[in-house]
Amino acid sequence: MNEIGRRDALGLFFGAGAALALSACSSDTSTDGTERATTPSSSASELEDTTGDLTLSLWAEPTTAEITPGVTTDVYSFGAEVIDGDPASVTPSGSYLGPTLHLRTGQRVRITFENRLPDESIVHWHGLVVPQDQDGQPSDAVAPGATYDYDFVIDNPPGTYWYHPHPHGRTGEQVYKGLAGLLIIHGDEPPLPLGDNDLPVVLQDRTFGSDGQLRYVTNMHDQMAGFVGDTLVTNGVANLTVEVRREAYRIRILNGANSRTQHLTWSTGQPLTAIATDGNLLREPTDVDGLVLTPAQRTDLWVDFSTLEPGQQLELLSSDTFIESGSMMGNGMGSPAGSDLDLDPSVAVTFIVIDSEPSPGSLPDALGTAPSFGASDAINAGSPKEIILSTRRASHWINDRQWEGRDATDLETVTANTVELWEFVNQSPMAHPMHLHGRSFLVTGRSWDDDSAAGSWATIESGVIDAGLRDTVLVWPGQRVQIAVPFADHRGYFLYHCHILEHEDSGMMRNFLVT
Ligand code: C2O
Ligand code: CU
Ligand code: CU
Repeated sequence: MNEIGRRDALGLFFGAGAALALSACSSDTSTDGTERATTPSSSASELEDTTGDLTLSLWAEPTTAEITPGVTTDVYSFGAEVIDGDPASVTPSGSYLGPTLHLRTGQRVRITFENRLPDESIVHWHGLVVPQDQDGQPSDAVAPGATYDYDFVIDNPPGTYWYHPHPHGRTGEQVYKGLAGLLIIHGDEPPLPLGDNDLPVVLQDRTFGSDGQLRYVTNMHDQMAGFVGDTLVTNGVANLTVEVRREAYRIRILNGANSRTQHLTWSTGQPLTAIATDGNLLREPTDVDGLVLTPAQRTDLWVDFSTLEPGQQLELLSSDTFIESGSMMGNGMGSPAGSDLDLDPSVAVTFIVIDSEPSPGSLPDALGTAPSFGASDAINAGSPKEIILSTRRASHWINDRQWEGRDATDLETVTANTVELWEFVNQSPMAHPMHLHGRSFLVTGRSWDDDSAAGSWATIESGVIDAGLRDTVLVWPGQRVQIAVPFADHRGYFLYHCHILEHEDSGMMRNFLVT
């Protein structure tokens, strides 16, 4: 990947499914935008419209990448190859990020993962509903040189997912070094922009030493608070610029940062139009003035560049939302939680409109279907399970426990094919994005046990989208967040944890046992 020049690398970012440079696509741009919309030319749209079996080889290895121009940085990277099946199922990212995997609802997928790293590792398909032994859990991590065989059927709706390593204690470091990739599930969806008009935006942050190498956790604060880099890196490069036509686009945003919960805005101040959260279409398009995205959350946006003039730019801006209510480390990092958050936006990606015929898009009013369950379907509707998040002894805890391998308490034991209400109660001074493996859930309540952080919450509240199904939910200090979880038919141990990877690695991770 290091031999790919920056120019070419940038070209490779167009299209969640596209390995095609936009320049190549625009050369056959007709002046009739409507025709182009129906004859997309990206490899994603060249995916066969079948659920034929797919066999992939996937590996993780040390390599180098050009994250900032002219600087070679040591990274870890996923690589993949189609062994059998549709060759359009794997498209290169053009950066240290893993190739995008294009899978289909109902498809049987076999993947052999080869660990070419000097450390143990395993791959987790974030958001996919799979059996325990397909989930890529810490207990299944394989040694350097070893392989792990996956064989599962895609049981999720079409949408935006991702894959990343999950070895216990090393996930943060491995993701930080570059191990993450998008996983897009295709299938029946309402008419939304396709092909070149379907763009990935993977948000991360990094800190570089003067030698151009990545710097990770260097002190206790990074470990406790979570590591926040000083440089925004989008789609694997700093200062990403993407050329767009005067058309509508679907932008699949993944917050792939280790710890930074981001507040996103458009530079024009126009609202962001969300169409999907964590792989699930919203029932209807939802406008927000600022979008809050925790680590691991995805939101698909719809944006119409047809009203912009050629040469105009639209920047996606990102602010960190870190707060610390009370003193966690006593060093005064973070904004005081009780007052307004001081948002300080930086440019995450610049879209530049190229000279093309304007072709306004039309966004369907109805997108996804209503969830098939709700809070009232819960078997414990009258007595939600409390999951208390706390910080003490320089560490983060879940009901006073931490990771102990494959075990679960009675409270953590659930019955397959039932809905349960859980309440995350945040008694810790910082926010925690809580993630469950194995099933998307509904956020069915948010209230305060202690409202001393209500001031900072008020700054970002309107950008927190709780309306649709999610697999990761932001829990602000002092909040009680209720979720309704429809447990799947897969029995066994599945993880739930904070998706601040430094918290997860230091033990803020438990199992639930499906019986
Ligand atoms: Cu994104 Cu347990 O993972
Ligand atoms: Cu996950
Ligand atoms: Cu946390």
